[in-house]
Amino acid sequence: MNGAILDLAVAIPHHYVSHEELARARDVEVDKYQQGLGCEEMAICGPGEDTVTLAAEAAWRLFEHHPEARERVGLCVVGTESGVDAAKPVAIYVHRLLGLPPNCRAFEVKHACYGATAALQMASAWVQQHPKRLALVIASDIARYERGSAGEPTQGAGAVAMLVGKAEERDALLQLSPISGAFASDVYDFWRPPYQSEALVKGKYSMNCYLEGLQGAYEDYCRQAGDEPTPDYLLYHVPFPAMARKAHRRMSDLRGLSEDLYLDDLERRVEPALWANRKIGNVYSGSLYLALAGLCERKGAHLIGRRVALFSYGSGSCSEYFTGRFGEGIYRFHRHLHSVLEARTEVDVDQYELLHDASLKMERNHSFQPALPHQGQAFTFLGIRDHERCYRQNFAEDAVALSNARPTALHHTRPFQRA
Ligand SMILES: CC(C)(COP(=O)(O)OP(=O)(O)OC[C@H]1O[C@@H](n2cnc3c(N)ncnc32)[C@H](O)[C@@H]1OP(=O)(O)O)[C@@H](O)C(=O)NCCC(=O)NCCS
Repeated sequence: MNGAILDLAVAIPHHYVSHEELARARDVEVDKYQQGLGCEEMAICGPGEDTVTLAAEAAWRLFEHHPEARERVGLCVVGTESGVDAAKPVAIYVHRLLGLPPNCRAFEVKHACYGATAALQMASAWVQQHPKRLALVIASDIARYERGSAGEPTQGAGAVAMLVGKAEERDALLQLSPISGAFASDVYDFWRPPYQSEALVKGKYSMNCYLEGLQGAYEDYCRQAGDEPTPDYLLYHVPFPAMARKAHRRMSDLRGLSEDLYLDDLERRVEPALWANRKIGNVYSGSLYLALAGLCERKGAHLIGRRVALFSYGSGSCSEYFTGRFGEGIYRFHRHLHSVLEARTEVDVDQYELLHDASLKMERNHSFQPALPHQGQAFTFLGIRDHERCYRQNFAEDAVALSNARPTALHHTRPFQRA
């Protein structure tokens, strides 16, 4: 038996801008963003939020519902392409902020939007050898493109944390199949050299690379799996929601579906997962798993016994197509996406630009500029002091500021209760 996702949770930034607003400010027809790209709203990180706080907040939300699971975590992996340090992994900040056990492997995986899938597959194999322990896999990213560029409306940010373990098929939220198809190809479609904060992208070319990766990975899967019934749902990597439509068009061509059948298939098997991506935007490594969370929230117990296919694409590139079956573990999933979306504050384009600039300044500036926490924000990025990143646990009784140079009694606080 392969590993299973036992539960998952999402964290998103506390601000967003609507594509209607953005289109007006950029003098673009709103239909291009809403219909052409499929986007409605875009999450914006403020200065107190970064890849670490998002990752820690998603995991914190998970452990809020499974406090007993924290002590069993023996593997903590973060898939990200917007890491905060060239050497020190996001996973070790998360390990500390959540007070995970010291006997734990903690590291980061990078391959553009594919990193979290590599981490998930690795975790799924790891739990076979460590059946009593759990793996924490987090996809956390901030998607930033240059202001005014074609990529700008496809920004976003967030994190998805997944608890992976060995489970009876019935008890899993999603039991992963051991079969998966992979496809790798060295291309320059999207990349971020170390001297750039925003990614460089050949937009149209990247879409072709994505579709080539889909075909390559799917064909590899089919060679191993033989004839299988079509899965009940298909989740694709979602750099922008219209890309999932294009992916399904390619998939339908491969399966020989006519245009009419494709549209019906799209509505039934793909669209139900995409609503949260439309309101958050691109989460790079997390966007596929945000679609999974969106599907769980929308369909709930209806998913039990149903099969889903997942397609992951990371520019550069590596692709993977794999499948899973939902089990009664879906009852563990706490439907929280609507409430975290409702808790956000809408900003206009001027405020979005200010937030964007302020968070870049925090990243580049070696000065200490404490940011105020938003209501309900579990962790705040305080700034950089002596080249060390500082964070605060907002829920701890003494709301301690943490940095590596000044270790605090973190393990003696009660990490799963708000003050
Ligand atoms: C995706 C991307 C290339 C689009 O850039 P663009 O050149 O500004 O957009 P386009 O002119 O192609 O328009 C996008 C879509 O909106 C449609 N559109 C344009 N104006 C429209 C309007 N007024 N009403 C409705 N649809 C409209 C276009 O027809 C196009 O749809 P199609 O692809 O189905 O033909 C750009 O956003 C980007 O670079 N994104 C980042 C890279 C990325 O996410 N890559 C994905 C693979 S990982």
